[in-house]
Amino acid sequence: MKLRKNIPQVTLVGAGPGDLELITVKGLKRIQKADYILYDALVNPELLEEAPNAKKLYVGKRLGKKAYSQDEINQLIVEKALLYGHVVRLKGGDPFVFGRGFEELQYIESFQIPVEIVPGLSSSIAVPELARIPVTHRGVSNSFHVISGTLANGELNPEIHKSVTTNGTVVILMGVSKLKEIVRIYNDARKGNEAIAVIFNGSLPNETIVRGNISTILSKVEKQSTTGPALLVIGEVVRLDAISNDLVEQFKFYLN
Ligand SMILES: C[S@@+](CC[C@H](N)C(=O)[O-])C[C@H]1O[C@@H](n2cnc3c(N)ncnc32)[C@H](O)[C@@H]1O
Repeated sequence: MKLRKNIPQVTLVGAGPGDLELITVKGLKRIQKADYILYDALVNPELLEEAPNAKKLYVGKRLGKKAYSQDEINQLIVEKALLYGHVVRLKGGDPFVFGRGFEELQYIESFQIPVEIVPGLSSSIAVPELARIPVTHRGVSNSFHVISGTLANGELNPEIHKSVTTNGTVVILMGVSKLKEIVRIYNDARKGNEAIAVIFNGSLPNETIVRGNISTILSKVEKQSTTGPALLVIGEVVRLDAISNDLVEQFKFYLN
């Protein structure tokens, strides 16, 4: 999309899982050209420094409560585009993976305002990958399934019951608060030995990975004081250790 000064236009940008450098080149360029940025809680705030002259509005949760409803956010995007020109709507991970990005796209386009989409690295793939867990691996897992653990009304997603039947990898977002129920469902399906990892703050300096199996994971996670976004990865792929942790520690020096 060619950006034209003061013409209302919106770019939906996925910021990736949190590490500043895991945004796409295109996403970064759009931020640098933004007149106005509306951003969410899981977006790395350092990204905003790329647009020193743009106005910014935080529309994520505050103390666990939403600062704005989705309807209000939709309206704000349109309002700011009409007032300021190029709006960047910056969202964590990928905008279309449990991100309500498509709702925003539909609303904005109903005002004949052009929308460009810049995908982001979804935490559902990137966070396991950074923990050296491949979501698929030949001979081990031929599929991966991304499920939300919690529905919009706060209840457990009943699709978790179906997830126990797959031999593929199950990635559960927004599921750590439902870990007890998820463990019960997997235990009831005689999958107590299934490997699981819970990854907090993936890609960030305070990343914490808790590995275990269904029977042990709850007590391991309860011992953690870590807060922040977390996801669960369930399946045989969690047992694949490409490289020992000691070696990873040694490599860190060269990689950073
Ligand atoms: C509302 S969903 C948005 C997902 C996002 N659109 C994506 O593609 O990654 C938020 C959930 O994503 C997961 N998540 C996002 N970033 C994460 C991170 N850095 N580490 C672990 N989990 C993360 C958590 O399960 C969190 O509750």
